Amino acid sequence: MNDNDTTSHEAPWIHAGLPRHTIRDASGTGVLTYSLFTREGRPWADLAWRAPGVDATRCADVLLAPLRGWALSTDDEALALALIDRGARVVRHAHSYSRDLGVSPAASSWAFPEAPGSCRLTPIDRSAEELVPALLAAYPPGHPDHSGWTPEEARHEVARMLAGEVLGPLLPCSGLALEGDTVVGACLVTLREGSPPHGGPWVLEVYRNPAPRYAGVGTALLRRALWLSNRAEPPVLSLVVSDGNPARRVYERLGFQHVGSSRTLELPT
Ligand SMILES: CC(C)(COP(=O)(O)OP(=O)(O)OC[C@H]1O[C@@H](n2cnc3c(N)ncnc32)[C@H](O)[C@@H]1OP(=O)(O)O)[C@@H](O)C(=O)NCCC(=O)NCCS
Repeated sequence: MNDNDTTSHEAPWIHAGLPRHTIRDASGTGVLTYSLFTREGRPWADLAWRAPGVDATRCADVLLAPLRGWALSTDDEALALALIDRGARVVRHAHSYSRDLGVSPAASSWAFPEAPGSCRLTPIDRSAEELVPALLAAYPPGHPDHSGWTPEEARHEVARMLAGEVLGPLLPCSGLALEGDTVVGACLVTLREGSPPHGGPWVLEVYRNPAPRYAGVGTALLRRALWLSNRAEPPVLSLVVSDGNPARRVYERLGFQHVGSSRTLELPT
């Protein structure tokens, strides 16, 4: 049974400020709570959390029927392994990071961070199409987040991001790196539903042209976003990064704290 009530269950994710849904077994006992989103067109049980005292294998057995074919993300390793045993496929293993600027504000020198060479940083004042070439070059085959998008698919997805249709409206701390008139990097920050660190101001995308002369462009865009977020409400930036992506070290150098790890699974149909 999968009822759509907003539960007051005392789960850790209660503090994420998102409505929670509950999966119940035949006796009506809750075995799992989650927040409902959509991921690549399919329903997505995000921040999935097993009820206390419920065995991971039993939880997996109960949820597979009502969530058949869904995506599910959880930081519960035992539950993830039980689901993998039952045919779920891991689509992402990711680490969550957050920087609380109220506790540790960004340095004022980050107001105008130095960008490599002749690059300059600007607000987002270009069309989706102009953001695509550097995006596709930044995620080549073999990158943990390679999308396989064609240029037209990428343009469509970037247009959705700019329109606020992917994880919330774009925030003004978002920025571009330009060389002449060419976009060589971008940092897209949205206001994600829920509270930090799992919601709130959210780095949806950050990338740069991979040519060595642009090394540091991503860091410069993130410094600018962090500085502009000092006085935002709430003053925080959060993100997730896939396991194996060296960008993780960039975030750690910029003062982002590791706040958890999770797996996203595709449940069997
Ligand atoms: C994340 C990113 C914007 C950071 O940009 P940056 O501040 O200019 O930093 P760099 O890209 O120069 O370096 C980041 C790290 O990745 C490494 N790196 C960069 N390109 C690499 C490549 N092709 N293969 C392996 N490692 C690479 C660098 O050596 C560096 O490692 P270090 O931290 O140990 O020194 C940029 O690396 C990028 O566009 N990556 C691809 C897209 C991406 O993964 N975005 C983040 C999604 S969460």
